Amino acid sequence: MKFFIDTANIDEIREAHELGILSGVTTNPTLIAKEGVDFHSRIKEIAALVPGSVSAEVISLKADEMIEEGKVLAAIAPNITVKVPMTTEGLKAVKAFSDLGIKTNVTLIFNANQALLAARAGATYVSPFLGRLDDIGQDGLTLIEQVAQIFAIHELPTEIIAASVRHPVHVTEAALRGAHIATIPLKVIKGLMHHPLTDSGIERFLEDWKAVENRG
Ligand code: E4P
Repeated sequence: MKFFIDTANIDEIREAHELGILSGVTTNPTLIAKEGVDFHSRIKEIAALVPGSVSAEVISLKADEMIEEGKVLAAIAPNITVKVPMTTEGLKAVKAFSDLGIKTNVTLIFNANQALLAARAGATYVSPFLGRLDDIGQDGLTLIEQVAQIFAIHELPTEIIAASVRHPVHVTEAALRGAHIATIPLKVIKGLMHHPLTDSGIERFLEDWKAVENRG
């Protein structure tokens, strides 16, 4: 499973990129709004920083308007993926983007049929939202498992991005259940690295080493 970062904050993207584990970035209108910056210039900046897929979401709700908006986004940089909501109009737009060779990430996926439809429309990625399903008492990880099974059985090339990831257990389980990618906030990426036994182990190695050095 690959790692994307889920943010529009350039410092966070730079920090994750420096770790050497980053394969892409996802943004959404909420994340862009939080930054208070110009949408297109921020997307351009991110796409120049990270060589992998950078998802930029359309705001329009009508297919023809989504297509126009998406074409402009895709022209910003070759690594832009147009993020499209899972709606009837969104599916039509995904098909059009697929015919044009423009990559898409179908977002706000909450059941397996939505994922299957998006894949059949030619989506490059689908994004099932784990945390938001868990929030309403449904099981986001089971959804990842179902979508992974369906895509494998029917040999669909669409990749699954585990989205709305809230904690490290989501990450491990998404990887085990067949997600190709997890898009994760920086705070959770940082949480993946640490274990108290690693920290105390280092401390002990250093103390033991110091004792040897002191013996001369
Ligand atoms: C995915 O692409 C979305 O940007 C994101 O994961 C949404 O997560 P949230 O539920 O934390 O807003």
